[in-house]
Amino acid sequence: MTPSLLLVYATNSGSTLEVAQSAAETLRNCGFSVDLQPAKQVRSLSGYDAVVLGAPLYMFHWHADAKKFLSRQRSALAELPLAIFALGPFHNKEDELTSARESLDKELANFAWLKPVSIAVFPGKFDPAALRFPYNLIPALKNMPPSDERDWEAIRIWAKALAEEMKVKA
Ligand SMILES: Cc1cc2nc3c(=O)[nH]c(=O)nc-3n(C[C@H](O)[C@H](O)[C@H](O)COP(=O)(O)O)c2cc1C
Repeated sequence: MTPSLLLVYATNSGSTLEVAQSAAETLRNCGFSVDLQPAKQVRSLSGYDAVVLGAPLYMFHWHADAKKFLSRQRSALAELPLAIFALGPFHNKEDELTSARESLDKELANFAWLKPVSIAVFPGKFDPAALRFPYNLIPALKNMPPSDERDWEAIRIWAKALAEEMKVKA
């Protein structure tokens, strides 16, 4: 039977959605049936064999919708393999990735019951034109150059490895 996976995402400016879409495509190519849903809209995990949750970091915090999703779905997630990813650093540099991972780990420590099969942090995208309130009021941010450091190959490799791991557990 085809294993069924729900890929849940949160985003402010859309870059995490594009990463979620790319991971979904890889997982489908690896034999999963994949649904993609914003964290806010997920009402039930019934019928799914596995879950992936991806959300960006903002000001050292993981997106609130992702944290609310974990709280709401705690009992269902206790029975399902879950993988997590965060989008964060503006640069694909070791120190920035390490610091983003520390931010994510601090957030996940509030969910001591979580036992993710995998946790990843990927570099993100910065678009000053897409800044939302209140960040669009900060001149230092508005004047930063745009960047897109999303590493599509690393995302593909992670999703492929995940498919293998999830298939065993699903
Ligand atoms: C105001 C602001 C604050 C940010 N804070 C962090 C942060 O604390 N840590 C981090 O790793 N990335 C941080 N980022 C980078 C975002 O996570 C990155 O731009 C991501 O791709 C945004 O995802 P989205 O387009 O799905 O909203 C920040 C970006 C902005 C605009």
